[in-house]
Amino acid sequence: MKISSPITMTYPGPPRRAGGLVRYVVLAVVLIGFLWYLRYSAPSFTSVHQPVEVTPSHLPTIPSQENPTRPDVKPAETPAPEKEAERPITTPKSPTHPIDELIQSAEKTFEDLLKKESKDLNSAAAAYRKRRGRHPPPGFDAWFKFAQDNGAVMVEDFFDQIYHDLGPFWGLPPSTMRKEAWAYEMNINIRNHNASTGSSWFWTQIWLNLTQTIEHLLPDMDIALNAMDEPRIVLPWEEINKYMEIERATRKMPPPSEVVSEFSALTNKPDPDVKVRPKEWTEYWPYWKIATRGCHPNSLARKADIMTDFSHTPDISLAHTLPHTYKGYVSNFTLSSDFCHQPDLQSLHGMMVEPLSVSSTKTLFPMFGGSKLPTNNEILLPAPMYWNNEERFSGGDDHGDSWVNKLNKVIWRGVATGGRNKASNWKGFQRHRFVAMTNSSQVSGAEEWSQIPQNWAMPTSQYNLAAQQENRLGKWTGEWADTGFVDLMCDPPQANGTCNYTAPYYQVTPGMKMADQFDRKYLPDIDGNSFSGRYRGFLMSTSLPIKATIFREWHDSRLVPWKHFVPMDNRFMDFWGIMEYFLGYEGENVKIEGHDKEAEKIAVAGQEWANKVLRREDMQIYVLRLLLEYARVADDRRDKMGWVGDLL
Ligand SMILES: *[C@@H]1O[C@H](CO)[C@@H](O)[C@H](O)[C@H]1NC(C)=O
Ligand SMILES: *[C@@H]1O[C@H](CO)[C@@H](O)[C@H](O)[C@H]1NC(C)=O
Ligand SMILES: *[C@@H]1O[C@H](CO)[C@@H](O)[C@H](O)[C@H]1NC(C)=O
Ligand SMILES: *[C@@H]1O[C@H](CO)[C@@H](O)[C@H](O)[C@H]1NC(C)=O
Ligand SMILES: *[C@@H]1O[C@H](CO)[C@@H](O)[C@H](O)[C@H]1NC(C)=O
Ligand SMILES: *[C@@H]1O[C@H](CO)[C@@H](O)[C@H](O)[C@H]1NC(C)=O
Repeated sequence: MKISSPITMTYPGPPRRAGGLVRYVVLAVVLIGFLWYLRYSAPSFTSVHQPVEVTPSHLPTIPSQENPTRPDVKPAETPAPEKEAERPITTPKSPTHPIDELIQSAEKTFEDLLKKESKDLNSAAAAYRKRRGRHPPPGFDAWFKFAQDNGAVMVEDFFDQIYHDLGPFWGLPPSTMRKEAWAYEMNINIRNHNASTGSSWFWTQIWLNLTQTIEHLLPDMDIALNAMDEPRIVLPWEEINKYMEIERATRKMPPPSEVVSEFSALTNKPDPDVKVRPKEWTEYWPYWKIATRGCHPNSLARKADIMTDFSHTPDISLAHTLPHTYKGYVSNFTLSSDFCHQPDLQSLHGMMVEPLSVSSTKTLFPMFGGSKLPTNNEILLPAPMYWNNEERFSGGDDHGDSWVNKLNKVIWRGVATGGRNKASNWKGFQRHRFVAMTNSSQVSGAEEWSQIPQNWAMPTSQYNLAAQQENRLGKWTGEWADTGFVDLMCDPPQANGTCNYTAPYYQVTPGMKMADQFDRKYLPDIDGNSFSGRYRGFLMSTSLPIKATIFREWHDSRLVPWKHFVPMDNRFMDFWGIMEYFLGYEGENVKIEGHDKEAEKIAVAGQEWANKVLRREDMQIYVLRLLLEYARVADDRRDKMGWVGDLL
């Protein structure tokens, strides 16, 4: 059996003095590797990726090779480091915690974003042309009025996901788009401002309800819907790149006098001569192979060997986190959710290990869904549970008490989902990993070498955790962590949510109502079978969400990490460091100040912002914009269509 390297369990110890030359060579290699990463780890069309990110561009991106001892940590029990602490050369003092720097940087990102707000139709249209390189779609004026009447914060960047999703369709003939959307087994049809569906599936009904609230503003169209949890379309990078080349080549602004500002009407029977291409749905895994064909051919993910045996303890290290982290903490959240540069995520997420259901195609056609992976080609709508405000996801109307009245604790309850966990594969599942590493008895067991971690690893010395240095990481974790499964989701299923192969490590724990969870300050949010539907409820609560995911959602470009929520790496190894920063630590010989005020500030800012840009009205505004764009790109006259009312 492979166990995680014992190196991760030792103290930082005195820094080794590598020969000067060797050190520079190592640094140069790391730097070249990093630049190479940046060049090849993402498709070239990532320019349409959401740009709202914390970029501490003024900060060095490569963590120093040595781990400076933080000035406020005095590991008194271990004599060696204490001696080291007196030698300024080996212990350069950093004035601030990296999280302080990330928070500061996020403030600036958010300020810059707000400066872009458009106050009237003409400036919104100008912002549109500047960012998109096209005229706005027909109906833009009515859309703007709808948004303004509904109190929207109008920043063009908030709609970036739409352009990311629809971009490739400029390379597909409009008649094919229309025919295949019409012919798809589950869809919503809009004719003459009347939205209807032939499907009674509850998700379709919820999306229909949303669409009906804006149908008076919508042209004719058919909207194909993905009824599965998991996203389904992944084109190879080489192909999607060709579609995007067409998009770029057709990005033009025809003279206003030539612009067509009406959508074409549709009949109920599209052109019989247009053929519906076979989608060749395939049902196989490893899903990793499917998902990564959308990565750049030179990316680490595309080159990684395909794993088939997930029975061992997965390798958990920070080796592939450099491009998206700053000193161990997530600095580019969008990139952190992109597995193309993170081949190790192949064995660290249920979606990759064994999803519940797989049915995927390489054929591009317009299918809408509630969430997707970075390489999927679906078109995102707000997820049904967000529109529906389901209490089990949102917590209902109770958003929690004020910060001072909350417990200084982390709460997580959920089902052991993530995919189909089995005796032979559960160790890679993200929820299993998180619940195990926040279980104080398991962490203490690892510290005492009495219990070898099955599916997680001790934090590396980079985090310089005081509790770990005092050998009290497990005990400390137990002071604030309350995590557990309400159902172990066994395969095959067993009585009362139990499971014989995971029972040694987990127990079925009583559930807790969302509203009661909000009595705790910290709310980690971990992917399930797909994205986590509670996220919006968490953001709207008075508590602080700590989020890790590999999924994309409609709202991503509206939220600024470290300003509105705390981002977490998908390995979760940064979790203890995040908690030490917020809670502080009081051990036998060490005391570290917490940052409760900072936590409160993010929680409050997140809630206020969610109440401004994640409202149900904001979903209507987003979907209206999306569907106007969709109707244009599916129209035969799309290259000439637009709204130019401001230019005439
Ligand atoms: C995050 O990473 C992506 C992909 O490399 C990049 O395009 C984007 O600019 C980065 N965000 C920031 C603000 O650094
Ligand atoms: C809308 O379309 C549906 C389905 O064709 C039809 O049953 C319904 O009567 C229509 N409603 C209106 C108001 O036209
Ligand atoms: C959508 O659903 C809500 C709640 O069930 C209902 O009150 C509303 O009338 C529905 N809207 C439309 C347009 O059907
Ligand atoms: C399941 O739980 C119920 C209620 O606690 C109990 O009566 C029953 O014996 C349990 N079933 C098994 C197989 O453990
Ligand atoms: C769990 O129970 C199943 C049958 O319910 C059995 O086949 C399997 O061997 C058991 N596994 C373990 C680890 O006990
Ligand atoms: C914590 O881990 C122990 C094994 O060390 C296990 O027995 C216990 O059930 C776990 N607790 C929870 C809440 O899952």
